[in-house]
Amino acid sequence: MDQKKKKQIVILGILIAAMLIVLAAVLIISSAVRNGRKKTAENIYCIAVTFGEDPKTQKNFSWYTETETTGSIVQYYPVTAEEAKKNEFDAAKAAQTEGFSETVDTYLPHEGEEYSASASLDPKSYMRHGAFVSGLTAGTRYIYRVGDGKNWSEPAVFETAPDETVNREKGFSFIIVSDVQGYIYSDYELWGNVFDQAYKKCPEAAFAVNLGDFVERQENALVWQYYFGIPDGFGDLTTVPVAGNKDDKMFLKYFLLGSKDGVTGLNGYYSFDYMNVHFTVVNTGDGSKDLSKAQLKWLKRDLESENSVSATFRIVLIHKAPYSDRNHADDPDITALREQLLPVFDEYNVDVVMEGHDHYYFRSEPVVENGTVKAEYTTATVNSRGENVSVFTLAENAGSAAGGVFYFMPGASGVKQHSKSFREMPEILTARSELMTNPVFCICDITADHIYFFTYAVDRYRLMSSAVECWGIQK
Ligand SMILES: [Fe+2]
Repeated sequence: MDQKKKKQIVILGILIAAMLIVLAAVLIISSAVRNGRKKTAENIYCIAVTFGEDPKTQKNFSWYTETETTGSIVQYYPVTAEEAKKNEFDAAKAAQTEGFSETVDTYLPHEGEEYSASASLDPKSYMRHGAFVSGLTAGTRYIYRVGDGKNWSEPAVFETAPDETVNREKGFSFIIVSDVQGYIYSDYELWGNVFDQAYKKCPEAAFAVNLGDFVERQENALVWQYYFGIPDGFGDLTTVPVAGNKDDKMFLKYFLLGSKDGVTGLNGYYSFDYMNVHFTVVNTGDGSKDLSKAQLKWLKRDLESENSVSATFRIVLIHKAPYSDRNHADDPDITALREQLLPVFDEYNVDVVMEGHDHYYFRSEPVVENGTVKAEYTTATVNSRGENVSVFTLAENAGSAAGGVFYFMPGASGVKQHSKSFREMPEILTARSELMTNPVFCICDITADHIYFFTYAVDRYRLMSSAVECWGIQK
């Protein structure tokens, strides 16, 4: 073989090797992205930011790593809106809080079965980290990162609640999603699109409520990674999580509730106040059919607390809908919850009970007398967010100080929509009940004199959203 031919073979060899290296790199990156592990190179997963007991001064963080990582640190400092956009973290400016870590024994799909809804699962352990941050300044934007002291997550932003009450001009907005409940990666791609549409419509959202059923199989750690990892900007928004039946015991392994020395949230139920609006978060998984005696006692104590009684609005967040008219509506656990909870919501003048579990759109009439009597009201149409909003003003002394309770279920924000028929339920005083083919999200605006809900369905193919219904309460 002459020199020229040898040279050609060497060059060809180098070219083939280079192509193989590029191909391998592409495969590794695309596999990492597919597996929802794109957040950081150091494999920090499932970063969940939640409120502490006081949303003005406390924030809780939960995240996962491989088991070798034991350090649990949150670093943070206040930033302006302009600084936040740069997404650069200056460690010299940062305060830090050390948290705790615990091993969580869970599962991953068997290799090669990641795309199967019924994948067999192999045991897998992770290190779960948590940190309670306190002493924050009210009404302030912070940049933060979590890590072990060497490896850090990408910087993201959180905001504390303002130290003021809602008034007629200034209030706040939040996003509501529910029943994402995916099996596999493509289900969470859809969830990522739904979250993206919601956040684009409401970039000023103070937080995002999720009404439960985050995943279909709570023991599959991969789908939790998809839930947290796929939506862009997810780390910038505080989650208000509601425990769903599908989430079960893993709920408290992914969300850190309460405060360091407190007992709030230990059983998945808790409450908080945001600008004088009182939110009570129920856990329908705590109890055998209806709520446990301990939770019911807590619920009544919470709703009769000064913060609740003096609140501008009282909102209950609950996964299993106690008042809806399809699918689960006549399950034994639901009828037990209806019997147990409707008198409580009446007695303590709850304004709106936000529900999940059934995967369709439902809004009740405002009801009194344990959901058996339609409250009196007048209606009007106002324009807000470019939508026509039907608003209801409840007659005073219509049976409770709030004048009636609205039960409202925007519907599922994931791939699973209910479509089966249901028995007639004339005892449920329904104003709107609509089966959906597309996932939904909801935006809520609150001021001192109104609360408006805007529900949108996201076309899963064209990724455009259109209003399902916009309604509200006008005081
Ligand atoms: Fe559910």
